[in-house]
Amino acid sequence: MNSKRIGILTSGGDCPGLNAVIRAVVKAAEKEKWSVYGLPYGTDGFRDIADKKRSPEELLLTRKCYQLPGEIRGVDVLQFFSGSILGSISKGDPDKDPEVKAAILRGYEMLNLDALIAIGGDGSLKIIYDLAEEGHWNLIAIPKTIDNDVPLTEFCVGFTTAVEVVTQALYDLTFTAASHNRIIIVEVMGRDAGHLALQGGIAGGADIILIPELTPYLSLDVLHGCCEKLLNLQQYDRYFGLVVIAEGVKNQHNKKEDRIGDYLKREIQEEYGQILCQKKHQDFCLLKDMDMRVTVLGHLQRSHPPVAWDRLLATAFGVQAIKLIEKGQYNKLVVWKKGKVDIEPLYDVIQTIKKSHEDKECPCPSPVREDDCLVKTARSLGIYLGDRPESMGRVKLDSSCSSPFSHSCVN
Ligand code: F6P
Repeated sequence: MNSKRIGILTSGGDCPGLNAVIRAVVKAAEKEKWSVYGLPYGTDGFRDIADKKRSPEELLLTRKCYQLPGEIRGVDVLQFFSGSILGSISKGDPDKDPEVKAAILRGYEMLNLDALIAIGGDGSLKIIYDLAEEGHWNLIAIPKTIDNDVPLTEFCVGFTTAVEVVTQALYDLTFTAASHNRIIIVEVMGRDAGHLALQGGIAGGADIILIPELTPYLSLDVLHGCCEKLLNLQQYDRYFGLVVIAEGVKNQHNKKEDRIGDYLKREIQEEYGQILCQKKHQDFCLLKDMDMRVTVLGHLQRSHPPVAWDRLLATAFGVQAIKLIEKGQYNKLVVWKKGKVDIEPLYDVIQTIKKSHEDKECPCPSPVREDDCLVKTARSLGIYLGDRPESMGRVKLDSSCSSPFSHSCVN
């Protein structure tokens, strides 16, 4: 049995489950009596070695004791925590700085590694793939991101925990929304992908879910559809509502907003006020003013301890990475497909990522598809997904209503 030297790093935005992958890799490697070196802050760790800021021994993860207060100790405790014990970087591309790139390649050589396990998302895996090509590294990639948008895998590490956070937030917000007859808009991360908003929204009981794949921007039709959905709730005596919007949805002019949830609130209030003015004349006595609030879940979605499924996935992925190195199978992405761990050629994955990043219209490498069974599920439940409100048509505005959302407009 040949002893091997394995490097491991986490790169890109952190997410729950990274430490669980590290723990699995360390445990499986220790069983083979291999050494695992943990690179601090992604590929920056190689620069530290090149610049002699750290010695290889400092990076050794195997045969170490990780201790918590009390008697809880050993590598196993790592799987419980979110974040990354190695640290991660989500900024900068070494390709744009020849000196940085040279130092990274030098550091890799100096560590004398047999293989590198990179845990990353679409952006960071692309960068590491290019470095690996240039430095002839033996690379195994493990997909992680709460956005779940790495191609060719059904699950990325961290996604399920983030769905849980969104689901729990919606549940919690239901009670305050109901107590005050409010609409609460929840802005969810996901970058250009809507998986997190869609799954969290369905599981959390949202009435409206807006994701970039189905609602690239907030057209007047979409705003009108949102208002009609909220008005329809009132006809069933429900005066509160939950709206989920993914951060990747753009404003009415197809431009990115810093806080798309706040923008949506302003626009719905205006549109809604105008509709109320119209409906008032039609004697809809039940219709009420909609009081709205916005909650931005932000980095809470990245920092929750990994749920059981993320720990399992992380563990299975970590073990698979070691198996691939044992067999000398490199340049693979470890994936979850059809109920089991599998592998895909990294080349194919990176090509898909590169193509999508060049596509201005659809920059997401693994978007929610229109025929996704969960899209169908949401529609069957009556969740409004931003479809054109055909049944309704555009309401013609009443010119007498100059201040659409003032109380004078409201029954
Ligand atoms: O890609 C993961 C992610 O959390 C996205 O959902 C989000 O848009 C982005 O990272 C936030 O990045 P940062 O932590 O740099 O603000």
